[in-house]
Amino acid sequence: MTARTPEILDALRGLRQTRRFLDTPVDPDDLERLLEVARWTGSAKNSQPWHLVVVTDRATNETLAGYGDFTAFLAGAPASIVVAVEGEGRSVAYDDGRLQERVMLAAAALGLGSGTAWFSSAGARRRVRELLGLPQHLEPWSAIALGRTDTTQAQAAPQLSGRRPLEEIVSWGRYGDPRPEGD
Ligand SMILES: Cc1cc2nc3c(=O)[nH]c(=O)nc-3n(C[C@H](O)[C@H](O)[C@H](O)COP(=O)(O)O)c2cc1C
Repeated sequence: MTARTPEILDALRGLRQTRRFLDTPVDPDDLERLLEVARWTGSAKNSQPWHLVVVTDRATNETLAGYGDFTAFLAGAPASIVVAVEGEGRSVAYDDGRLQERVMLAAAALGLGSGTAWFSSAGARRRVRELLGLPQHLEPWSAIALGRTDTTQAQAAPQLSGRRPLEEIVSWGRYGDPRPEGD
């Protein structure tokens, strides 16, 4: 443990989805910092199967907001980064998720809120592709909304908050076993 460890762990554990943003624009230098973090994400065989589109145009984010099932909150985001990936399957999805989580954590370090907006249907991804001029081989599965969190508003439906307890999701040594006494 160093002096900064509790602060870092709190930041990692405390990352939440922002869905309500202030109008304040995101500093383009901060966007560059996030892109640099994204660039260094590890991927399977270092394939780096992604292309990122930075969207700071309000009207474009409003249009994107209408494409997914739960993406309406994008309309209020001063910036977003659409993450498009090449290829299919678990490994590409994992790479995509790693990049997004990194960007979201880096955003938090910059004092920015962030939220994943998922374009789950093929039709939604086609519309995103057409809007942003992405080539056919790239699948824009999601956008990361970015901006200052509006802390005066609730960010999530209460029923979606919270987490299952550790005892329910962790075993020690063998499935179902608790942490041994004295460890
Ligand atoms: C793969 C994935 C897709 C998600 N898609 C959306 C989405 O389209 N819209 C949304 O509002 N939140 C989306 N979320 C955010 C989750 O709903 C959120 O992380 C979860 O409810 C826990 O809330 P919290 O992050 O605030 O703790 C997504 C999260 C993941 C991991």
